[in-house]
Amino acid sequence: MRILTGPAPCRGVRPRTASPPDAVEERIPGVDLRFVHVSDLHILADPERRQHGVDTADILRQAIPAINALRPDFVVAGGDLVSDASEESYRRLRALLAPLAAPIHLLMGNHDSRAAYRRVFQPGAPATDEPVCGAFERAGLRFLLADSTLPGREEGELSRAQLAWLEAELAAHRDRPTWVFLHHQPLPIHVRWLDRLGLRNPDPFLAVLARHPQVRAVAYGHVHQPRSWRYGTVHFTSVPALAFQFSPINQEVEITQDTPGFRVVEIARSQARHRLHYLDGRVVAEPRLDAIPIYVR
Ligand SMILES: [Fe+2]
Ligand SMILES: [Fe+2]
Repeated sequence: MRILTGPAPCRGVRPRTASPPDAVEERIPGVDLRFVHVSDLHILADPERRQHGVDTADILRQAIPAINALRPDFVVAGGDLVSDASEESYRRLRALLAPLAAPIHLLMGNHDSRAAYRRVFQPGAPATDEPVCGAFERAGLRFLLADSTLPGREEGELSRAQLAWLEAELAAHRDRPTWVFLHHQPLPIHVRWLDRLGLRNPDPFLAVLARHPQVRAVAYGHVHQPRSWRYGTVHFTSVPALAFQFSPINQEVEITQDTPGFRVVEIARSQARHRLHYLDGRVVAEPRLDAIPIYVR
């Protein structure tokens, strides 16, 4: 397991010439890139505790062989890595991730602690409360990992500094098709209790996207269910939790019996193909972007 989210605060943008070279070790015929998006692992420090009757560590143990079998180029874990923000939870998460063959990029969610995360995953770096974010390139695409958390709050926000970082990153790489990952849903999903806890400043984020048409997708977790919309030319897409799931219908909190899962994205000749993989073995192909419903605000 290699943890790749950079320890440096998201202050500057590396000059283009300093970007790491594209490096796909295992190219699958016809597919330029394959990656996996998981989110909301909700690992606990105490192995005896359950959340809504679920053993989240056991779910992660089941998911890793399924992800390894897909031989992805990388994995993004989109926040709520742990549930209790303790260092012990992060130590447990680190041990659970050890069998993962692919490099993994970790984001913060509302249940995470930036400082505790840094103490465990970046022991050589100062355990600051600065946002955890990063950018990288693979196979000609650019991936931006933003930190939408507000310490101590469940809802999210992209700070002015995070928005400025996104703007600068996108301005510096205008010719690179780009994916943006964050934890909170930037657009309401029409579930009242969850939408009270979404990104509370979507407008400046959407304005950044509007200035940078190279953004292909915005991918997030937090809602514990898969959703896909087309907003302008951008694919807004969420994943099931690798934990308990939330009802897509009930306007108040309801935990469902739905199976945990994750999203697999393949980029072939600059077209993205999405599949949802569930831990009961089901694989659900999602429609192409032009067949996805248009989001109406
Ligand atoms: Fe979550
Ligand atoms: Fe969350």
